[in-house]
Amino acid sequence: MILSALNRPLVYAIAIAAAAVSIPSMANDIDVDAAKALFKDNECQKCHNPVKAKKGPSFKKIAAKYRAKHLDEKEAIKHMTSGKKVKLEDGSEEDHKIIDTKDVKAQTNLAKWILSH
Ligand code: HEC
Repeated sequence: MILSALNRPLVYAIAIAAAAVSIPSMANDIDVDAAKALFKDNECQKCHNPVKAKKGPSFKKIAAKYRAKHLDEKEAIKHMTSGKKVKLEDGSEEDHKIIDTKDVKAQTNLAKWILSH
């Protein structure tokens, strides 16, 4: 891009806008694409959706519960790695799906993504 006196303010505006967009995502430190991929590979979407209740609660509902109870991603990781018995929306019970990775970083990323809703 040619930096003439005329378009310089525009360049600054773009730089400021870009910084404003990138700061929140850096602060949250969530790799959304990786979280979505892990979620899909584990077929979590069979029971979970960001906004809709399926067999399990929506992310919005889970995130709201965690906020109300002051829980964080550690609790969510415990949940997705322990296979405890859960009640589905239809009233039946089964052991919760255990995530297929032992990579704590990947688990943390997914948990933070879920709780960011
Ligand atoms: C067969 C359906 C089903 C599948 C598949 C499933 N879940 Fe769940 N999940 C549930 C139900 C039902 C609950 C609600 C449990 C409760 O409130 O006791 C739940 C709750 C949760 C919670 C909230 C736990 C809490 O402390 O309230 C998280 C986080 C979660 N699931 C993550 C996942 C992830 C990640 C996957 C994929 C690895 C997954 N779930 C796959 C049914 C499912």
